[in-house]
Amino acid sequence: MSGSVAMTPGWDARRSALEAYFDRTAHDAWAALTSDAKVSRVRATVRAGRDRMRALLLSWLPMDLRGSRLLDAGCGTGALALAAAARGADVVAVDVSPRLVALAAERAEGQPGAARVRWLAGDMLSPDLGGFDFAVAMDSLIHYAPADIEAASAALAQRAPGGALITFAPATPLLRTMHAAGKLFPRGDRSPAIVPVARDRLVARLAAAGLRPGRDERIVSGFYTSHALEVLR
Ligand SMILES: C[S@@+](CC[C@H](N)C(=O)[O-])C[C@H]1O[C@@H](n2cnc3c(N)ncnc32)[C@H](O)[C@@H]1O
Repeated sequence: MSGSVAMTPGWDARRSALEAYFDRTAHDAWAALTSDAKVSRVRATVRAGRDRMRALLLSWLPMDLRGSRLLDAGCGTGALALAAAARGADVVAVDVSPRLVALAAERAEGQPGAARVRWLAGDMLSPDLGGFDFAVAMDSLIHYAPADIEAASAALAQRAPGGALITFAPATPLLRTMHAAGKLFPRGDRSPAIVPVARDRLVARLAAAGLRPGRDERIVSGFYTSHALEVLR
């Protein structure tokens, strides 16, 4: 259980694994990917795709965000939180990795809007975070089971009347194959699997919870494929 939302028993275990992964194993790689540092050609395609995804999600929010409260759920190194704050939003930026949150706060120092961001280490679904006008979860649900992505998306939409903007890894034949292949290897150093999600099933499950889809767009850039969905109540 996270707050009043019924997650599967796997949510807490997966969140702990992601905390370990992003806080330790992948911390430096993630810091590099989200900076101007030189990265491999493969990662450059991911960085380009992620830049497009961030721009897309920000374009779905009102240009003038003054007076709005926005949750950046799984903020990572904080680029989206800071961009929203620069447009006037009061932002709560939360991530389960304390080191990524610390890096985000450090990077934000002196930047426009930085004073309007509250950086927090913790679970994006914690009821202690309060209510919001908008919630954004960019690529922060992609490692959870589909049932938890559905429940987390619903929970975020319920507490953000302006809409929850979430992304998921769409269940394309290639991603399904990679996911199946990943299961053939023993668990070790490899990163947590990205779990493919069928878009229509997700929308149907959200509809069953009284939520409706808004804008809907997929971004493909080399090794990066992610699908953005606006979830409205
Ligand atoms: C792929 S990264 C994306 C980070 C950021 N949204 C971005 O797009 O740059 C996923 C992030 O979600 C965070 N995360 C995963 N589950 C979380 C949870 N339950 N609560 C808070 N953060 C979480 C991870 O620690 C990681 O920083």
